[in-house]
Amino acid sequence: MFDGVAKGYDRTNSVMTLGFDRRWREWSRRVLDARPGERVLDLAAGTAVSTVEYAASGAWCVAADFSLGMLLGGAHRAVPKVAADALHLPFADGVFDAVTVSFGIRNFSDTEAALREMARVVRPGGRLVICEVSTPTFRPFRYVYMRHLLRLVPFTARFVCSNPDAYDYLAESMRTWPDQRSLAEIISRAGWDDVAWMNLTGGVVALHRATKPVQREG
Ligand SMILES: C[S@@+](CC[C@H](N)C(=O)[O-])C[C@H]1O[C@@H](n2cnc3c(N)ncnc32)[C@H](O)[C@@H]1O
Repeated sequence: MFDGVAKGYDRTNSVMTLGFDRRWREWSRRVLDARPGERVLDLAAGTAVSTVEYAASGAWCVAADFSLGMLLGGAHRAVPKVAADALHLPFADGVFDAVTVSFGIRNFSDTEAALREMARVVRPGGRLVICEVSTPTFRPFRYVYMRHLLRLVPFTARFVCSNPDAYDYLAESMRTWPDQRSLAEIISRAGWDDVAWMNLTGGVVALHRATKPVQREG
């Protein structure tokens, strides 16, 4: 499915989000707070549009995704790219300082297993940042958003996207995705500590962050 939307993905994203995607990415970079010399895994990176934002911090960032079409769509972006399934990452234990996923985690077939796999490849004390659509907090807006605005996603896709049918699925997955608190509970269950979140654009998007526990001796 993602191979099918790769062509024009970045443009479609900006149209669908009314340009808010840029701000959400900037916030993700700030919250991740990567430093030069650190190694960052950007999982489900797609065309690496998210990876270049993190790389702006000076850290070494690798884009990983299981859609070759999406990775090829970002061939012009000068970051390392790896074909990888989030559930079976081709990396050794503890090699990254941080791992991040933007608008990808809700597509994984097993969210908790993927979060455990992410914890495996991050060093003890390393960070997790997840940027994902979420549940608007203001009730009247939530009603309009869930009942009406999400219907515009597949409709708009017919005009700007190379595979509009995929956006039926994407809109449905936005509607059924766990809210902020439920996702935080899943992250904790997967073995991450210090789980917290902040809402962006009234909760249309949420940024979750967590750290990998440091094992104490004895
Ligand atoms: C909506 S795109 C997000 C791309 C980019 N991170 C961004 O912020 O625009 C979701 C990506 O998740 C990837 N994806 C879905 N399931 C995956 C999995 N199991 N392993 C790796 N990538 C996956 C898709 O191929 C797709 O490129």
